[in-house]
Amino acid sequence: HQDEREGLYRLMNYAKDYYKESLLHSEEGQSIGLTYFRERGFNDRIIDKFELGYTLNEWDHLSKKALGIGYTVDLLAKAGLIVKKDDGRFYDRFRGRVIFPVHNLSGKVIAFGARILTKEKDQPKYINSPETEIYHKSNVLYGMYQAKNAIRREDFCYLVEGYTDVISMHLSDVDNVVASSGTALTEEQIKLIRRFTENVTVLFDGDAAGIKAALRGIDLILKGGLNVRVLLLPDGDDPDSYSKKVGTTAFKQYLKDNTKDFISFKIDLLAADAKHDPIKKAEAIRDIVTSISLIPDAIKRSVYIQESSSLLKIQETVLLTELNKLRIGDL
Ligand code: CTP
Ligand code: MN
Ligand code: MN
Ligand code: MN
Ligand code: MN
Repeated sequence: HQDEREGLYRLMNYAKDYYKESLLHSEEGQSIGLTYFRERGFNDRIIDKFELGYTLNEWDHLSKKALGIGYTVDLLAKAGLIVKKDDGRFYDRFRGRVIFPVHNLSGKVIAFGARILTKEKDQPKYINSPETEIYHKSNVLYGMYQAKNAIRREDFCYLVEGYTDVISMHLSDVDNVVASSGTALTEEQIKLIRRFTENVTVLFDGDAAGIKAALRGIDLILKGGLNVRVLLLPDGDDPDSYSKKVGTTAFKQYLKDNTKDFISFKIDLLAADAKHDPIKKAEAIRDIVTSISLIPDAIKRSVYIQESSSLLKIQETVLLTELNKLRIGDL
C-alpha cells in the first residue's frame, strides 16, 4: 500500500515534469499552450510557481514515454492518467489541453485539471483527475500549498471557485487564496483551512450559481466554527476576469471596500426585495437566524443576534426565541 502510494507520487511528478517540458520546450506547447497563458496574462514567474503545463494533442504521448522508462499500465490507470477501454486498450486522459497541477500540503502533485483551449461545444471546459489512492477531492483545496504561508501571515483566506481565480489573485499579489474548484465545499476542506486561520472570505463568481454556492458555503463554514465574510463580484465576473478588467490596484481596492460580514451580506441580499413585503421579510429573518444557529460558539451567536437586531430593526428577544427553537436539539 505504502509502496503503491510512493509509486503514484513518483508517476504524478513525472507527468507534471513532462507537461511542463511540453509547455516550455515543444513547438506545439509554445505556440498553443504558452500563447494561451500569455493571452491570459500569466507570466513566467506564475507559470513556474503553479507548475503549469501543456499536454500534446496525441492519444498516448505521455503513457508511451512513461511505459518506456518502466512505469506500468496498471500504475498509469491507478494514477488516473490513462483511460482504459473494455478491450484492454487505453489512451491518455488529458490531451491537447493546458494543465493545472493540484499539490498537496507538502507540494507533491496529486492531481491535474486540464483546460480546453478552443470552444468545442461537445467537450467539457475542464477535465480533472479522478479519485485515486493519493487524491481525495473532498479533502483538497486548489492552491493551498502556494497559499498556506500567506494565509497564516494575513490570518484569513479567500475562497474562490476556480483555478484561474487563484492564479490571477497571485498575479495581483493576493496570495492567501484557495479554490473549491467548482464543487460544493466540504467539512474536510473547512477543517483544512482551520489549520491555518479561523477567517474565511468567500469570493464567488457574480452569477446566480455563485450566489447560491456562497450561501451554502457560508452555513457550512459557520458550522465549522470559522468566521465568514463575503464578497460579491459584479454579475458575470469572477476574480480572474474582474481583476483583468479593472487592473490590480482597483481590484485590491474593490476587495477592501466590498468585503461584508455574512450578516450584512445576507441582509442586503435577502432583505433588499423584502423591504415592503412583511412575508418576505419574515422569511429573510428566519434565514439569517438559521445561519446564526449553526455557530458553535455561544458568545459569537449572541453578538450576531445583537447585530441582526439592530440592522433588521427587530427586537432581540424575538430573534432569541427563534434561535432557541432552532437550537433546541442541542439542549
Ligand atoms: N470546473 C470543472 N469542470 C468544468 C467546469 C468547471 O472542474 N467542466 C471547475 C474548475 O475547477 C473551474 C471551476 O470549476 O476552475 C470554476 O468554473 P468556471 O467558473 O466555469 O471556470 P473558470 O475557473 O472561470 O475558468 P476559465 O476562467 O478558464 O473559464
Ligand atoms: Mn487513501
Ligand atoms: Mn461560474
Ligand atoms: Mn469562473
Ligand atoms: Mn474565469
